[in-house]
Amino acid sequence: MRDTNVVVTGAGGGIGAALARRFAAEGARVAVNDLDKAKAEAVAGEIGGVAVPGDASDIVAAAREALGGPIDVYCANAGTGTGGGPEVPDADWESAWDVNVMAHVRAARELLPQWLERGRGRFVSTVSAAGLLTMVGAAPYSVTKHGAFAFAEWLSLTYRHRGVHVHAICPQGVRTDMLAATGKAGALVLEQTAIEPEAVAEALMAGIAADRFLILPHPEVAGMYAARAAEPERWLRGMNRIQRALEE
Ligand SMILES: NC(=O)c1ccc[n+]([C@@H]2O[C@H](COP(=O)([O-])OP(=O)(O)OC[C@H]3O[C@@H](n4cnc5c(N)ncnc54)[C@H](O)[C@@H]3O)[C@@H](O)[C@H]2O)c1
Repeated sequence: MRDTNVVVTGAGGGIGAALARRFAAEGARVAVNDLDKAKAEAVAGEIGGVAVPGDASDIVAAAREALGGPIDVYCANAGTGTGGGPEVPDADWESAWDVNVMAHVRAARELLPQWLERGRGRFVSTVSAAGLLTMVGAAPYSVTKHGAFAFAEWLSLTYRHRGVHVHAICPQGVRTDMLAATGKAGALVLEQTAIEPEAVAEALMAGIAADRFLILPHPEVAGMYAARAAEPERWLRGMNRIQRALEE
């Protein structure tokens, strides 16, 4: 990772901070983005990186400038864990869509011309197992994470022969502020098997080394994903059992 310029969005805490620390430990120069300026500066200071505060939707140019050169690796990690169902106001659906999907689209729009010209680039999307399966109690999160996964998959199949590598990280529970905010659904579905953010960074490094698109920090998610595709009725019945437990 020497002479590699890396951007991590939402890196003031949680998974993003772990990714930023790990890339820096591997020798990369890291631009640490977060909406929270103080948090971005704290992590950047700790790892000898540069802080690029602001909304993850529009930071590619600022990150390039702060890094003093082209971006080699872009981690679209910032996300919002919006819960609820159709009753959630449009504004909240829109903000989930904006952060969890459109920020990735806008970043790719900015990054691709240079990556295609250089014949190399790496786009890392922090999706979620909710993007492969579904999170009970959280329709905006599930829908937008499916969108983020679809976009990462599309990027991968479209540009892999042109030197652009794409990774979709799909963890279940990870011990961060976001997990702490998921309430009863998180406690039911995620907490028992929750892992530390550093384990997500470790899984990403292994996935990069193996040049693997799908990064599963919880390996058991592969079986769940396959079961959902093979036996959708059975899978829905199982998920509904969890929903009913949530209602108790
Ligand atoms: N924690 C989990 O259990 C879990 C599981 C699967 C996937 N994820 C995904 O991992 C990613 C990181 O989540 P986390 O658990 O580390 O959350 P977190 O709440 O600990 O950290 C998220 C960080 O992103 C920042 N942020 C939020 N919106 C932003 C924006 N628009 N622009 C820039 N920064 C922004 C926040 O200020 C915060 O510092 C998210 O995409 C989330 O959906 C989390």
